Formats: sequence, C-alpha cells, structure tokens
Amino acid sequence: MQLLDVTDLNTSFFIDNNVMHAVDGVSFSVPKGEIFGLVGESGCGKTMTALSVMRLVQPPGRIVKGQVVFEGKDLLGLSEREMEKVRGDRIGMVFQEPMSALNPVFRVGEQISEAIIIHKNVGKKEAKDRAVELLKQVGFDEPEKRYSQYPHQLSGGQRQRILIGIAISCGPSLVIADEPTTALDVATESQIINLLENLVNDSAMSMIFITHNLNIMRKLGKRIGIMYAGRMLEQNLVDVFFREPLHPYSKGLLSSIYGLAGNQKRLTAIPGSVPKLAELPRGCKFHPRCPYVMPVCREEEPVIKEVGKGQWVRCYLY
Ligand SMILES: Nc1ncnc2c1ncn2[C@@H]1O[C@H](COP(=O)(O)OP(=O)(O)O)[C@@H](O)[C@H]1O
Ligand SMILES: [Mg+2]
Repeated sequence: MQLLDVTDLNTSFFIDNNVMHAVDGVSFSVPKGEIFGLVGESGCGKTMTALSVMRLVQPPGRIVKGQVVFEGKDLLGLSEREMEKVRGDRIGMVFQEPMSALNPVFRVGEQISEAIIIHKNVGKKEAKDRAVELLKQVGFDEPEKRYSQYPHQLSGGQRQRILIGIAISCGPSLVIADEPTTALDVATESQIINLLENLVNDSAMSMIFITHNLNIMRKLGKRIGIMYAGRMLEQNLVDVFFREPLHPYSKGLLSSIYGLAGNQKRLTAIPGSVPKLAELPRGCKFHPRCPYVMPVCREEEPVIKEVGKGQWVRCYLY
C-alpha cells in the first residue's frame, strides 16, 4: 500500500444542463517519502485533482466517483469533521498565490502558530516556539524578527516560505504544492524548489508537486503523471520519462521544449490546441493533434494500461 492511492477519480461541474468532466478517471499513487509531479497544460484538471483529494471542490463542482485512500482510509468516505482533521494536519497545502493565502492583518508567525494550535493540543508559548523553529527551517535567518512581520513586509518568495511553513507545521505525511512557484521570478523559483526538495529528503514526507512547467520536473521528484483534458495520459518514472516518454502527447511536449536546435517554440509545437471540456472529441482526447493517429483512436477512448513497473499509458500504440 502506498501513502496515497487515487483510483478512478471523477470530478465534474454541473452547469445548467451541461456536465463537464474536469477530472475523468484519474488514478495515481504516491509512495511514502517521494515527490510525485502532476504535470499538464493550463485547464487540464491539475488543481481540480488536488482539490478533490482534499475534498475542497466547491459547487457547481462535485466529486462524482472514485477512491482516495490516504494512510489506509478512503477520504471520500469520511465525515466533514473527520476530513478537517486530515486537512492541514496530515496533508498540508501550498497554493500558487501566496498573498491571497495569507491573512494581511495578522503577523506571519502568528499564522503559523494558529495552524499548530488548531490541530495540536499545545499552548500559545509552545506553538510560538515551534513556529520560530519552522521559520528557521524554511530558510529565514532571523526567525524571531520575521515572526512579528506582516505579509506585506515580505517578498513573494518569502511569503511562499511562510506558506510552506504553515503547510508543514503539523508534520504532515503529504504536502500538495499547486504551482507554488508560478508567481515567482526564476531565481526565487529555484530557491523554493530546493527548499521543498530538501524538506522532503530530510523527512519521511511525500509531496504532490503540481506544475504546467515540465522542465521543473526534470530534476525534481521520482514519478511524473501527465494530464490532458481531465485524463491521466501517462505515468512514468522521471528518469525514464525524460529519456523515453511513452505517450505521443508527452513526446510532443518534450520535443517542443528540448526540440531541434534553434527551435524555441513551446507547447504550440504540437499542432492544434487543448480542446475545451465542453467540446471534447470522441475517442482519444488527443487524437486530433496526434501524429500517430489510427482509425480506432477516433472511435473509442483507450484505457490506461500498465506497460512496465510504474509505467502507465493511455494509448493504442501500447
Ligand atoms: N469553477 C468552475 N466552474 C466551471 N468549470 C470549472 C471551474 N473550475 C475549473 N473548471 C473546469 O475544470 C477544468 C480543470 O481546471 P483546473 O483543475 O483548475 O485546471 P489546471 O489546474 O490544470 O489549470 C478547467 O478546464 C475548467 O473547464
Ligand atoms: Mg491549476
């Protein structure tokens, strides 16, 4: 058993008389102590997958089907009260926008203390000591001074460090980081990624690292999942993936980034664009853009198959 086993997760939006399948039959596992990279273009369902795992999907969205087994319990079967004990305590979260995730009127240190007090049976003093310790752990040289500052006194990267401090404050076994560096400049981005990587390496914690930037995963993490139009198209080991990706979409993504010399084109190097959820094609959702398309791809969607240890692909070529 893995730390997290997501099986056949389906999350849809119900708007007027339409149903949009934002997450469609997604399965993946996160082993203990590993980073799992969830990668895909904007709108492919990464955030909805994360919110589904945390049971934070808001109407008109709803989890329709699936299993989310975490530490041996199916989270989808818990009461909201039990789920609140999991959130922030066993599973920490880091989101894209550090400013909106922090409360502007409270000192950043207090926001870490507060997170500890909510879940752990400790007093104010102990929570503060622990918060100062966490500030040090996430890279602040003068943790006591930082404790008393307000969010607006910190840079974007420093605010993201605070959020990471909150996410790990209760010693979670899983952290979900949803595009945690997208709002940051490149230098700050690599510092934050190093910090997250070190935190995972120094503990038994696991992480789901969500990004639209495949390049980040080149050095980060052990396993990768590639999403497209709400589906998982491929799961692979990071090392293998960057050498020999399985799915034609993955091949397209990689050659668009590392393609022919002088070719600076990005994802648009794959002809066509990501289809809208409301107008998905029949069959394989990638077939209109696929250089290997066969008649069957237009008719029926392939199922995801295991083709090697830890390697899964949703494609008729396999
Ligand atoms: N509040 C919403 N109402 C309707 N549809 C939504 C809403 N939020 C997300 N979606 C749909 O779910 C899809 C997946 O969104 P999301 O998980 O946020 O993508 P990603 O994080 O990969 O960029 C989107 O393409 C969008 O069509
Ligand atoms: Mg997102």
